[in-house]
Amino acid sequence: MAYKENYRKRYERHHDELRWLYMELYDNGDMFAELCDNMQRFYQERGRELKSMDCQREADQDWYRQNDLLGMMMYIDNFAGTIKGVEKKLDYIERCNVNYIHLMPFLETPKGRSDGGYAVSDFRKVQERLGSMEDLESLTAACHRKGMKVCMDFVMNHTSEEHEWARRARRGEGEYMSRYFFFDNWDVPSQYEKTVPQVFPTTAPGNFTWIPEVGHFVMTSFYPYQWDLNYKNPRVFNEMMYNFLYLANRGIDIIRIDAVPYIWKELGTQCRNLPQVHTIVRMMRMISEIVCPGVLLLGEVVMEPEKVVPYFGTVEKPECHMLYNVTTMATTWHTVATRDTRLLKRQLDIVSSLPKDYVFLNYLRCHDDIGWGLDFDTLEKEGFRERPHKKYLNDYFQGYAGGSTSRGELYNADPVTGDARFCGTTASMCGIEKAGFEQDEAGMERAIRMDGMLHAYMFMQSGIPVLYSGDEIAQVNDYTYKENPDKAADSRYIHRGAMNWALAGNISDPDTVEGKLFGQLGQLEQIRKTEKAFVSNADMWTIDTGDMAVLCIGRYFEGDKVVGLFNFSEYDKTVRIQENDGDYVDLISGERRTVSEIDIPAYGFYYLKKK
Ligand code: GLC
Repeated sequence: MAYKENYRKRYERHHDELRWLYMELYDNGDMFAELCDNMQRFYQERGRELKSMDCQREADQDWYRQNDLLGMMMYIDNFAGTIKGVEKKLDYIERCNVNYIHLMPFLETPKGRSDGGYAVSDFRKVQERLGSMEDLESLTAACHRKGMKVCMDFVMNHTSEEHEWARRARRGEGEYMSRYFFFDNWDVPSQYEKTVPQVFPTTAPGNFTWIPEVGHFVMTSFYPYQWDLNYKNPRVFNEMMYNFLYLANRGIDIIRIDAVPYIWKELGTQCRNLPQVHTIVRMMRMISEIVCPGVLLLGEVVMEPEKVVPYFGTVEKPECHMLYNVTTMATTWHTVATRDTRLLKRQLDIVSSLPKDYVFLNYLRCHDDIGWGLDFDTLEKEGFRERPHKKYLNDYFQGYAGGSTSRGELYNADPVTGDARFCGTTASMCGIEKAGFEQDEAGMERAIRMDGMLHAYMFMQSGIPVLYSGDEIAQVNDYTYKENPDKAADSRYIHRGAMNWALAGNISDPDTVEGKLFGQLGQLEQIRKTEKAFVSNADMWTIDTGDMAVLCIGRYFEGDKVVGLFNFSEYDKTVRIQENDGDYVDLISGERRTVSEIDIPAYGFYYLKKK
């Protein structure tokens, strides 16, 4: 009874705005009524435990803005073979202090034409080799018992060419063709091509694919087997929302909205970030607040800050709960390659000037390439020109320039623009692969320091840090993808290797690479979750150090102040910071320190707490 009442209240709260937006976009009252009926149906089907979790989270809207969440993203097969396997590894995950796991795409997808699972052929079926929906429900329930959250992708921009809708469209069924963008000649596609940039210029050039069976072109912004869905058709929106609610009801806590800026297309535009995208995300937010308010929306917007931030929506009309801090991530690696923290400092200042309730997902590496989406206007003023600098960064991380010890590969090098992105694991980019191969002990020591320092700096940012599975044990690049014809053309697989459980066996041995890094991360994670200055909505600012290579970040919350210092160079430094407010204690060593003048070793860092 109480649950029924909850639904009614939530529905009433959002109904007018939801209807208004829906009618503005689709002007179709019948379809809106159908959507509402289905929302209620999914609510009725939602399990009791999930409903009570919804209520708890609704009552504590800041539940995800604390300092207690630490994420890890992982491929189910690479990590533990199957979903059941992941469930058996929850103890390891707990040992990593991780309480939020992002399971990389696991829904049905055609072998060899899957884009790492981002080409979904059935939104309600788990890939057989990984398990079943029951296994997923068992895993989410087991996670919830341990206080862990589970995140999954909702790939809503496109379906696989093998999805039932696509198969029927290929047979020429108009109803299904209207769910995609079909054109019987090149006129309109050629006009789109004039304004729409390419996502995969080398591996999948162009935005359309010829489908001989129906004699039509279909829009394919990503790979040719990923057909863009047409959200101008309300049937597409409704059905995709039902899929979304179906997945939420399996116990998913965080839904990552894949490639969200792309979901609306208009001729004559870049087909990115159009106003209708925000209408759709806002509707999704309301639909989830009505049916499953405990679920968080994580938007995947891999763009510059001005384009990312609107996806938070406004205070009255919020959209996503959480967004990737992507420019900060890319700028971090620029800083590694230049030992020049100016741009990073500026970027952190931009992020910390945003409203404190915005939650960012912070990371060093994820499953995708690193695109050099840096603030080149500012960089020009600092003497870096865009094209040569991108080339320098790519050369640096391939290990060719600037005293680099990094290893990795280019991704989608575009012969026309000269642009390329970069792939590699954190450990390889920090020099662990090279030092291991060359049995260079000093080099290894330095590489581990850099890796630890980067994590310490990442944990100091506001939001939720997410580790890339394997990074906790310094896993290096995996070159075996080149032998697999399904993967060879996509260098992102270099950092999507299988978890090395033999090496993970070393985590308690401080004489090993794995043990050193794992131990250090563990210590940092403990500090982060016990010191309240690390809560997501604390004050954060940057502090001048007088040395370009040393970054200093301050955090303050309810009387607690922590200052972090991070040396991005291979030289020992002495810096002076203007925080003459007495004694500090080093949270790692427990020693007392003053901050007026401080020695910081090569790739070293400090977390200093004001006494
Ligand atoms: C997202 C994913 C990426 C995928 C693309 C297409 O950007 O992170 O891996 O290729 O969407 O779905």
